Amino acid sequence: MKIINRNIKSKDQQGSSNLTAPLASRYVWKVLLVDDEEDIRTLTKLNLKGFELDGRELQFLEASSAFEAKEILDKHEDIALALIDVVMETDDAGLQLVEYIRNELAMKMIRLVIRTGQPGIAPERFIIDNFDIDDYKDKTELTIDKLYTTVRSTIKAYRELKAIDLNRMGLRKIIDAAPEVYRISKGSLSDFFDGILTQIIGLCHLNENALISTIDGVVATVTGEEVKIESGVGELFHKKENRARIDNISKSCIDSILYNKSTDNLREGSLILPLTIDNNVVGFIYLESNHSLSPEDKNLIEVFTNQCANALETLKLHLNLKKSYSQAIDTLAEVAEFKDSTTGKHINRLGAYTTAVAQSMGVSAEDSQDYGKAAMLHDVGKVGIPDNILQKPGKLTTAEFEIMKQHSEIGAQILSHSDSTKLAQRVALYHHERWDGKGYPKGIPSGELPLVTRIVAVVDVFDALVSKRPYKEAWSHEDALDAILSGSGSQFDPNVVEVFIRLYRDGGLDRILVMN
Ligand code: C2E
Ligand code: SIN
Ligand code: SIN
Ligand code: SIN
Ligand code: FE
Repeated sequence: MKIINRNIKSKDQQGSSNLTAPLASRYVWKVLLVDDEEDIRTLTKLNLKGFELDGRELQFLEASSAFEAKEILDKHEDIALALIDVVMETDDAGLQLVEYIRNELAMKMIRLVIRTGQPGIAPERFIIDNFDIDDYKDKTELTIDKLYTTVRSTIKAYRELKAIDLNRMGLRKIIDAAPEVYRISKGSLSDFFDGILTQIIGLCHLNENALISTIDGVVATVTGEEVKIESGVGELFHKKENRARIDNISKSCIDSILYNKSTDNLREGSLILPLTIDNNVVGFIYLESNHSLSPEDKNLIEVFTNQCANALETLKLHLNLKKSYSQAIDTLAEVAEFKDSTTGKHINRLGAYTTAVAQSMGVSAEDSQDYGKAAMLHDVGKVGIPDNILQKPGKLTTAEFEIMKQHSEIGAQILSHSDSTKLAQRVALYHHERWDGKGYPKGIPSGELPLVTRIVAVVDVFDALVSKRPYKEAWSHEDALDAILSGSGSQFDPNVVEVFIRLYRDGGLDRILVMN
């Protein structure tokens, strides 16, 4: 059974489903008339005058041969119904066309009705049994009423198939996005909302335009900037030129929900549903509808609206958590810095170097920020080292250095109490491991460790070398770079060294080098 149809493939390619089909197609039902007799096509159109279902009229596409029909089918993937004559350019041209539609084009949803003037050539039983069609009609028995009934019931069937398809797609998006929602990124949340909207639209036979948006400034992002989640599905939201209209809709929705201002800006029959967290309106869902909704539809929409509000609440909690994590790190870093006071702005620079190198290595902006934060805590374990060792003006004895080396494990220990400091914990534990496996505390070759630890290994040494320490003078940048380069492939990951040196040469670290 071929289930993958063109429809689904094009969705994946365009990332946005057949909702990107030409606008006109979604406010009509497309009916393809395939008949070599023009009179029949004309009469059919006449008899179906005034037809309407869910506020949509019919749009006729006409073909006088199976060949012409194929050309039309290639251009329109959203035809609801085809009325197909059997005998045209060949005795079975219509039947071949049915095969082509179901098997070659793999269009499973389009409803197909065979209409023949020569039942002798195409016996009903044989055709119904052997071809995937929805009805078989003798042209002579197609009175106005019978035709009307056939068209109505087949278009309804098409509508149900589409609803199920949208529903399934919506569900798939929700399922795909669900685990992500807990790790929350803005992208996954918008997929989740897309899924919800797609479901509502499919289940309630709404127009395929919908918008979901937070009201500006209610939810804060990690960076402290305002967040605006906007997830739109439908034609309206997949065209740049509609931006103004969307902004207009947003504004009208906000006026209506927050300020109770009535608005005549919106389409008739459109719905605005507020999303609330603890009785505060934080967003809304906007839906367009051509017909009045049943109580069941309204119920359903309410269920989905609650789901959206819950997802928003999760996001808000998550962002708060990230913020307090970030504050906790700053505090911890300060403590470490206080103890090892000579390191000065070492910690801030280290965070900045790490983020810069990670980003140059193709790590996402968000993860690079996380790496930077984690890097700032790499030496937090120094709080557990006695001052007489830590601040010794001269070279450490072997015994002293053995104690000094414990700062890695002490740091990991301090950071082990929270899940949110997992990355920092690894950095603390592994930042003195080496590429050749001769580092401490475990002697693991750093190629087996997370990238962030290999980045910190390089930038930590660079910054220590160019800084004054109780036990050493500051080195020049060039001497420090030479030392880093000579450690490439033994102490350090060669990829990291290469990127670091290139960044330095390109001026990408200038801003950080002067941080004092
Ligand atoms: P740190 O001062 O932040 O130095 C970090 C790393 O930079 C060192 O890790 C080492 O790999 C590199 N580094 C720093 N200074 C030099 C240097 O003069 N030459 C070379 N080749 N590399 C240098 P390491 O060796 O594992 O040391 C860890 C921490 O132990 C250091 O952090 C520092 O707090 C302490 N430490 C290391 N050596 C001495 C020392 O001779 N005297 C004192 N008082 N502390 C030391
Ligand atoms: C669609 O109608 O959306 C897809 C084409 C079909 O399977 O009929
Ligand atoms: C992690 O440990 O979660 C990230 C480190 C990496 O991307 O290598
Ligand atoms: C990683 O280890 O996470 C990335 C691989 C690399 O760039 O070295
Ligand atoms: Fe260290």
